[in-house]
Amino acid sequence: MKPKILVTRAVFPEVIDLLAQHFEVESNPSDQMYTEDELIVKLRGKDGILATPSERISSDVIAANPQLKAICNMAVGFNNIDVEAATRARIMVTNTPEVLNQTTADFAWALMMAAARRVTESEHWLRAGQWQKWRFDTFLGADVYGSTLGILGMGRIGQAIARRSLGFDMRVLYHNRSRLPAEQEAHANNATLVSKEELLRSADHLILVLPYSPQTHHAIGAAELALMKPGATLVNIARGGIVDDVALIAALRERRIAAAGLDVFENEPRFHPDFLTLPNVVLTPHIASASEPTRRAMAFCAAENLIAALSGAQPQNILNPEVRG
Ligand code: GLV
Repeated sequence: MKPKILVTRAVFPEVIDLLAQHFEVESNPSDQMYTEDELIVKLRGKDGILATPSERISSDVIAANPQLKAICNMAVGFNNIDVEAATRARIMVTNTPEVLNQTTADFAWALMMAAARRVTESEHWLRAGQWQKWRFDTFLGADVYGSTLGILGMGRIGQAIARRSLGFDMRVLYHNRSRLPAEQEAHANNATLVSKEELLRSADHLILVLPYSPQTHHAIGAAELALMKPGATLVNIARGGIVDDVALIAALRERRIAAAGLDVFENEPRFHPDFLTLPNVVLTPHIASASEPTRRAMAFCAAENLIAALSGAQPQNILNPEVRG
């Protein structure tokens, strides 16, 4: 008998075809969002789950389904999964690192450029029919070329973002739990490790790329925003909750920083409605990894992890190898 799996959300049909070669698959082509209770019921009798960041795989979901052997997330971030509870229950957990590095770095740049040069704000103005004449000061923004790029969280995506700044003659500062090896710093446009405070004070453009955890909750709040330059832009492509959205709204409204580009929000897909009242913020719906090839690569990566896990092999991207003992 084939192992049974749940695919929680709609995904590329070719991925379901691949999974069906190995498993009895319950998929969700209508893309219904399951509540925690529904997920608990759907997982009964399942050996594995291909999940997305929008499902919370809590200790309750895990405790109700101790027969699970693998939880394979279609994302590099995995704060939606209680990995400790899964590990205690000897369930493998995997993510999809690497395949999204370049696409996500591209998008961080897109948000930074759009926020600094007021791309969406000016487009809305143009679409609203307000462009009557040329003026010397129409939508003056901040320069990216020659400026100082700050990166908070210098993992693989942070380094890919830094590398892109070579062509823009930027100085790169970063703050991270640990210093990168010298050759990685050199490859990341000679990025320099600084304190968080110096990063906040010196960056013209600050990009957040750190994973969400209770320790990084509101890593950027009112006190941190107060340290930033008045002309600075802030970009969050990491996770909602890393920024205190209420504090950011106040800072943007009072122009204590110039602009922000946000792909992630506290409580998404809901978000603070006041963001919609601010012209100086670029808002996107958690799409930093959403190029066609990258989303396909992420889905296949998660599927391959599940196939390996349920065939007794070590999945390439296992986060808790200790469960295999
Ligand atoms: C997307 O947010 C991811 O973590 O891959």
